[in-house]
Amino acid sequence: MAQPVLQLQKLLDEKKIASRIKEMAQEITKQLGGEELIAVCVLKGSFVFYSDLIRCIDADIRTDFIGTSSYGNATKSSGEVKLTLDLTHAIQGKNVLLVEDIVDTGLTMEFLHKTLQARSPKRIYSAACLFKPEALKTKYKPDYIGFEVGNEFVVGYGLDYQGYFRNLPYIAQVTSLN
Ligand code: IMP
Repeated sequence: MAQPVLQLQKLLDEKKIASRIKEMAQEITKQLGGEELIAVCVLKGSFVFYSDLIRCIDADIRTDFIGTSSYGNATKSSGEVKLTLDLTHAIQGKNVLLVEDIVDTGLTMEFLHKTLQARSPKRIYSAACLFKPEALKTKYKPDYIGFEVGNEFVVGYGLDYQGYFRNLPYIAQVTSLN
């Protein structure tokens, strides 16, 4: 399979993303007040955002990874979220930060929040690089949001279309799926 030909319009460049991440990390550092954190990378899309964000948070951090899938190769959520990879650390009594690339319908984060809440953490925080308020189908709103975007499909900075475009250093809107 070759990378699909898409028409892209740059929405957020590297500089803008980096400076917003620094602000978010400062807020998270302040909120933690010196307490330890388990930072959970929600695979696959958040691995780029996650690695930038955790390096800007000034706290004792343990890293962990969780996998979900709901999209397959489509650009619309199937509505059914599945756990494809579980955490390796226990989170009981711990501060947990769920780090997501984008909150679209909110189904993934709602599912993860419920799943992890059942394991009795001290507190679950959530950070999303992007938030699409118009697409939201739940009451879920991340505690920390990088940028709000409209209801269009975006790629880059970890976000993919059919597995491609995750390596773009910026975030772009897909204007045409040729
Ligand atoms: P939700 O469960 O509908 O909130 O969707 C969350 C997941 O869908 C994200 O973690 C992304 O992997 C994927 N997703 C949602 N919108 C987009 C998009 O515009 N581009 C790429 N992936 C997206």
